[in-house]
Amino acid sequence: MTNIPDDIFTEPENVDPDTMTNLGPLRRLAGAWEGRKGVDLNPKAAGPEQKEFTERIDLQPIDYQLNGPQLFYGLRYHTHILATDEDATFHDQVGYWLWEPATGLVLQTLAIPRGQIAIASGHAAPDAASLVLTARRGDTEYGICSTAFLEQAFRTDSYRIEVSFNADGSWSYVLETMLLVRGRTQPFQHRDVNTLVKVAEPTPNPLMLLGRKSA
Ligand code: HEM
Repeated sequence: MTNIPDDIFTEPENVDPDTMTNLGPLRRLAGAWEGRKGVDLNPKAAGPEQKEFTERIDLQPIDYQLNGPQLFYGLRYHTHILATDEDATFHDQVGYWLWEPATGLVLQTLAIPRGQIAIASGHAAPDAASLVLTARRGDTEYGICSTAFLEQAFRTDSYRIEVSFNADGSWSYVLETMLLVRGRTQPFQHRDVNTLVKVAEPTPNPLMLLGRKSA
């Protein structure tokens, strides 16, 4: 919502409960996905480390959400990543992808268990072939917030994700997270890429499941 209305309390009526048909460009992300060809470039004391990883992402429709007049449809996600040569979790992330049909606003919220959260934003058409979302440290609207340790040792200045929807139904992402590592003068580009293939269809959102039961 770019123009804030005078009435910030009144909610829209007769909102369509079917999230899957109102997800705009996020519809193509719904479901469970696997990617076996991920590549991560991360900062280590000795210099950049490149590792291959496998990934599972579960993206499930949630019921529509209202902030007064503002309406979002969305997906809740969990990303779990293993390095191909290790058993321990390599990266874990939860959050929401949100779509505001009225404005084309797309949001991704991220929570990472190293003590870091962000909310990235972008705009897209409902049939967009790609999405670009960004977040910047210091921004109060679409920013990044970290622990004191990360803020001082691995300052995260920006985050960018580009998602491309592929013709075969898979999708790919490129993540660029700019880190200022303490003691270094040049920022480090922590970069991740992967392509995800669908392994299960999404479960309809709770309101839709309720409707099916009572029908
Ligand atoms: C596919 C996605 C990602 C993978 C596989 C990944 C993996 C990694 C790995 C392996 C490290 C080095 C850990 C260590 O040395 O202890 C690292 C460091 C880091 N990552 Fe990521 N990461 C991903 C995405 C992100 C994102 C989206 C952010 C923030 C928005 C982020 C923030 C950081 C930070 C701040 C560090 C440095 C902290 C540290 O080394 O203690 N990462 N990441």
